[in-house]
Amino acid sequence: MRTLIIPLAATILLSATLPGVAGPAQDEILKHFQEQAKMEFSVERGQELFTKSYGTGKPKTPSCTTCHTKSPLKSGKTRVGKVIAPMALSRTKDRYSDLKKVEKWFRRNCKGVIGRECTPQEKVDFLAFMISK
Ligand code: HEC
Repeated sequence: MRTLIIPLAATILLSATLPGVAGPAQDEILKHFQEQAKMEFSVERGQELFTKSYGTGKPKTPSCTTCHTKSPLKSGKTRVGKVIAPMALSRTKDRYSDLKKVEKWFRRNCKGVIGRECTPQEKVDFLAFMISK
């Protein structure tokens, strides 16, 4: 168990406990999105986002799980069959350590699946879920 202290709106100290294996790079990225989010991150909301079937993006990719599979612990596949390493940080240690990479793929995949960009709240929830796995 690790405790993450995130300064929110300069005055309120937000403390949330996230079981998992995040290092300093992941902590920074979580903090980056948490500062822009309205609520404290939620692992449960992150799981919902990951598994939900939206139907508002591209018809062939209704859900994050279309490519990443239903289990964050398993390897996924792109539409053309290229293997995607598991999304769970416990399985793929260098995940969520490069903000540019994280932003690029959120932008592309949220548009493809939901039909719009993800909000900072959705991003921090998703990351919390994957880091806790
Ligand atoms: C069309 C297939 C596809 C779908 C659908 C998809 N992804 Fe991905 N995702 C990928 C690929 C390919 C990569 C880049 C390869 C990698 O990181 O292993 C990736 C990488 C990512 C990353 C970067 C991970 C890192 O290591 O920094 C995030 C974040 C991400 N996806 C989130 C999502 C979310 C959220 C959804 C659903 C809204 C989603 N993805 C749906 C294919 C997909």
